[in-house]
Amino acid sequence: MRHQPGRHFLQIPGPTNTPLPVLAAIARPTIDHRGPAFGKLGREVLAGIKTIFKTEKPVVIYPASGTGAWEAALVNTLSPGDKVLMFETGWFATLWNKMATKLGLAPEFLHGDWRSGVDADAIEARLAEDRTHAIKAVCVIHNETSTGVASNIAAVRRALDRAGHPALLLVDTISSLGSIDYRHDEWGVDVTVGGSQKGLMLPPGLSFNAVSDKALAASKKAKLPRSFWDWEEMIASNQTGYFPYTPATNLLQGLKVALEMLHAEGLDEVFHRHDRAAEATRRAVRHWGFEIQCRSPGECSSSLTAVRLSEGHSADALRAEILARCNMSLGNGLGPLADTVFRIGHLGDFHDLMVTGTLTGVEIGLKARGIPHKSGGVEVAMTYLAGNTGALAAAA
Ligand SMILES: Cc1ncc(COP(=O)(O)O)c(C=O)c1O
Repeated sequence: MRHQPGRHFLQIPGPTNTPLPVLAAIARPTIDHRGPAFGKLGREVLAGIKTIFKTEKPVVIYPASGTGAWEAALVNTLSPGDKVLMFETGWFATLWNKMATKLGLAPEFLHGDWRSGVDADAIEARLAEDRTHAIKAVCVIHNETSTGVASNIAAVRRALDRAGHPALLLVDTISSLGSIDYRHDEWGVDVTVGGSQKGLMLPPGLSFNAVSDKALAASKKAKLPRSFWDWEEMIASNQTGYFPYTPATNLLQGLKVALEMLHAEGLDEVFHRHDRAAEATRRAVRHWGFEIQCRSPGECSSSLTAVRLSEGHSADALRAEILARCNMSLGNGLGPLADTVFRIGHLGDFHDLMVTGTLTGVEIGLKARGIPHKSGGVEVAMTYLAGNTGALAAAA
């Protein structure tokens, strides 16, 4: 393959750019996962990760991608044939729903339009009808990565409470954790599913379950078969900082540094940085004259923006052009959104120049492919960013 000069811009909505200090930590020699140095590392990351989920409860760390943590959430809490209520926010909600069926659960999928978030009223109405409490869990995606829509999880919690329903609440935060505010304990979530490769700024390979007391109690009675994913042995070993099987030692070395970076910046500042990047991106997209996949401004994701290209133009051809010319990867449209939508990732380790650089790459691609648009989206984004200094304003 031809060498492409210049630094690659990885602007897909995860995996994200891994910062150099994290890469350096991962590149350190592998250590004995039963030795004292590992125990210290284990205790540090197991405690540190709780602050990101905003929980005091155990967070289980798997050497797996996010899909593994989805499975762990289901098999630890549920029994064959259990009804689960899921909401169709987009591609990832659809995949989790398919997994539930494959595992022998009976998921009910509330229909969505792939342009909005979870309809908490619809959840409440369905739960209120379920007088026998046959529904054992409600499963929703906090930030639907296929559409760039972020749902209101506190509203989903209120829906369960108003319906007086005892179902567990399971939430996927794979593309919001460490990018958009999330509160496992305050929002009464029972299992939160996370992944390493997005807001946590690590490569793929770690995933998480934050586990409430209620979920832990449910796991004692749950009958779905599980072994690798079993919380019981994990949580018992984790008390001393160790794992029941070989953990991803080098990724955990990276996680320690990533957590230090997030804490040093401050989570609120991290979220604010994502909000600004998202707003700058949306302003550019609207200026170009394209629609944003997320219909309601209040639900637009701060970690990615899905852009609907005008009819008759291929989003995949545009992405290919941008990759060839600018050495930049953008996210593709998933499922029914294939080739009509492209996704701009603005999450993880980035600053204003990377946001405007990304938008510049898109604008070059639009011009190169002759896709009609109003020139100057990057200028609009720059003007917005210059007037919203974020951390600099706080420091001044
Ligand atoms: C919201 C969401 N859920 C689940 C997944 C699946 O995670 P993984 O691909 O790490 O298995 C992804 C992946 O991008 C995602 O964005």
